Amino acid sequence: MRSKLVAGNWKMHGSLSSNLALLQAVRDGAKGAAGVAVCVPYPYLAQARSVLDGSTVAWGAQDVSEHDQGAFTGEVSGAMLVDFGCRYVLAGHSERRSFYGDTDAVVAAKFAAALKAGLVPVLCVGESLAEREAGITGEVVTRQIDAVLSLSGVAAFSRAVVAYEPVWAIGTGRTASPAQAQEVHALIRQRFARDSAEVASRLQILYGGSVKPGNAKELFGQPDIDGGLIGGASLVAGDFLAICAAA
Ligand code: PGA
Repeated sequence: MRSKLVAGNWKMHGSLSSNLALLQAVRDGAKGAAGVAVCVPYPYLAQARSVLDGSTVAWGAQDVSEHDQGAFTGEVSGAMLVDFGCRYVLAGHSERRSFYGDTDAVVAAKFAAALKAGLVPVLCVGESLAEREAGITGEVVTRQIDAVLSLSGVAAFSRAVVAYEPVWAIGTGRTASPAQAQEVHALIRQRFARDSAEVASRLQILYGGSVKPGNAKELFGQPDIDGGLIGGASLVAGDFLAICAAA
């Protein structure tokens, strides 16, 4: 049996004062629950560590450089994230892909850099609305995964997580139906099973895209959905904890 994971993605939200209440509420409310994490903006990693250290809630970042160190102004390396106690880092979130030019190759390099640093990368994949309407969801998701597989190999995914996030469902209030999500999750797992049945059966595949307390239970009840990557609802402690409880 795979365990569940619920990871919050705060995106570019927060302040030292508002984060404190949110982090404390998540830490206290998630007590005992395994598989809860928050991915916070870089400047708040130290704060996340100071509030969450010693609790069951892990923390991480939303992006990482593909480089180890050097003249890369504005970038943050995997080793720096490890320095701040991060366990997870997102790689290839659709907002990075669409606004910051993270191509499949760049995402694969970031994923590899995260692993090399000892982080658990959360590889985000998903199709746009136009791609879904064109009937190429499977092709798009497979292409995004294959770029990472060809660089890092299937064994890398025994230390990684995949998040399926249909772009049309992110921040839109429009959730994939449990059946729509399950269909893509199954396809993703089959893609990994082609390379390793064992890795595929153990791989945590999260769903992301307008997960709310009201739809989490049904989504997480699907056979191939192992939890969620939560954006907007992770900024409201009560909602995030309700989603964690649903897992
Ligand atoms: P959302 O975001 O829950 O606000 O749709 C999900 C994500 O972008 O990870």
